[in-house]
Order: sequence, then structure tokens, then C-alpha cells
Amino acid sequence: MGKAIAIDGPSASGKSSVSKGVAAELGFMYVDSGALYRGVTWQAIRKGVDATDAAAVLDAMHAADWDFFVQDGAAIFSVDGDVPVQELREKDVRESVAHVAAIPEVRKFVVESLQSLENFGSLVMEGRDIGTVVFPDSPYKFYLDADPEERAMRRYRELVAAGEDEKAHEVMDSLKKRDKIDSTRKTDPLVVAPGAQVIDSTLMTLEEVIQTVVDSVRG
Ligand code: ADP
Ligand code: CDP
Repeated sequence: MGKAIAIDGPSASGKSSVSKGVAAELGFMYVDSGALYRGVTWQAIRKGVDATDAAAVLDAMHAADWDFFVQDGAAIFSVDGDVPVQELREKDVRESVAHVAAIPEVRKFVVESLQSLENFGSLVMEGRDIGTVVFPDSPYKFYLDADPEERAMRRYRELVAAGEDEKAHEVMDSLKKRDKIDSTRKTDPLVVAPGAQVIDSTLMTLEEVIQTVVDSVRG
């Protein structure tokens, strides 16, 4: 069995960028667990389901055909033969995903799918519950954090660069709402996993954070 590096933290704390950098440096596969929660949300939305209707979300999730594969060093999934990428970042998905991810049966499906990816080899997985639930026995656990204002500004700059018409205060509000749902939900709330190394990146560059994780894994 390969190594599983768990990287958790709130929105825009740097999980994706750091995980991709660490995976590239160590030659491990990169896995974005949030993409699968977004995928379940996207599938429900395109089937015309209201994301707050848990039973209907579950019907849409179970009726779909999910497949997992590796492409360019990253784990990818298809749903009913389609591979959503950009669609997963759209506003309707962003605003509903925390509700969908709070449904226990959705979490069970996603957690089991994520655990099966270990069969592909060593990986770096980012999310909210990787160190607590998906790979609790991993010796390589990290919790990234940064001040909420800094995180909102990072997300805002990213959305503006992607050509989205967003207001900074709206991004801040939406990020705070999602943080609250994620950290207070009954099933697997976002918490620092026992044994995780906490890295506050408010005043660190991306490169410094990546090196901190790589150095710690290499021991
Ligand atoms: P998450 O996956 O936790 O939501 P991302 O990796 O998508 O976070 O990071 C959000 C944005 O912040 C990206 O545009 C990224 O380049 C930037 N970023 C991440 N870490 C840092 C850092 N330490 N310093 C400055 N910007 C960062
Ligand atoms: O990039 P960002 O951190 O904003 O979001 P993401 O990682 O794509 O995750 C989107 C949402 O999925 C989060 O707000 C959580 O509600 C949920 N999620 C989760 O519950 N558990 C995970 N392991 C990953 C994501």
C-alpha cells in the first residue's frame, strides 16, 4: 500500500494549490475530494433536483453511473459518461455543495469512493475530513488555515482572474456561510485531525507551504 497524504482546511486556505505542488514534487497522484461532492451536486442540479431535497439528491446520485480513472497525475471521475471540470466551479454548484455534502449518505458514497483510490498508488488528497475520516491512520496529516479575510481575497482574485463578475463582500459572505455549514454539520465536521500538523499560511507564500509539507513527509 502506498502513502496517503491528507490535506484538510477551510475554503481558499490553499489546499488545492499546495496538494498539487506536493504531488508534483513527490510524484504522487493528486486527488481533489471536494470535486466529488461538487460532482454529486452538479449531477443533482442537471437532473433538475433541488439540492436541499436530500431524498431527491440521493436518488439522482444512486441512479448515475460513476467511474474513476487517473489522468495527468490526478484522479478524475466521470458521471454518466461526462467529465465535468469547469462546471464544478460554477456558482449554482458552489452555493449548494455544502448542503449536499452535509447529507450522511452522500458522505458515505464519497468517502468509500475516495478510499478505493489508494489502489492506484501513493496520493495527496485534499478536503475537509481526509485526516479524520478517509485516511485516519495516515501518519501524514496537515491542516491548512489562513485568516478569513485573506482567504476571501484569494478566492476573489481567483474568480476575477477567471472572468467572473463577483463582488469582494459577496465572496466573503459566501465563504463565511460555507465555513459555518462545514464546521458545524453533524456528520464529519471540519476539525483539525488528531496528529495533524497545522500550517497557517496567512503570511506564507505557496512555495513555503509546499516545502513545509514535503520536508515533513520526507522526514
Ligand atoms: P482551497 O483548495 O483550500 O480552496 P486554493 O488552493 O484553491 O485553496 O487556493 C485559493 C487561492 O489562493 C489560489 O488562487 C491560490 O493560488 C492562492 N493561494 C493559496 N495558497 C496561498 C499562499 N500561501 N499565499 C498566497 N496565495 C495562496
Ligand atoms: O475549494 P473549496 O475549498 O472552496 O471547496 P472544495 O474543496 O471544492 O469543497 C467544496 C465543498 O465540498 C466544501 O464546502 C464542503 O462542503 C464539501 N467537502 C466536504 O464536505 N468534505 C471534503 N472532504 C471535501 C469537500
